[in-house]
Amino acid sequence: MEITVCVGSSCHIKGSHNFIDYLQKAIPAYNLDEKIVLKASFCMGKCSEGINIKIDNERMVLNNLEELKDLFINTLVDKAKKEKCILS
Ligand code: FES
Repeated sequence: MEITVCVGSSCHIKGSHNFIDYLQKAIPAYNLDEKIVLKASFCMGKCSEGINIKIDNERMVLNNLEELKDLFINTLVDKAKKEKCILS
């Protein structure tokens, strides 16, 4: 699984840097280093909608860190565990 966080200026001002900080800690804490690749991207072209991320190729808009934590813990952890190791 690839998680891409927009670090363009609009998303950065809204707090996307906190998403990166959280995911850099949460991915190893859940032993998902071999299942999730964390990436940053420039503007995804949807600045007005909120903080933009992509899960693989699916773009999503979140409003704050709590929403990201909820998504990660309740959806992405289980989904990533079912995926093949990215190193194989
Ligand atoms: S800065 Fe993130 S979508 Fe534009």
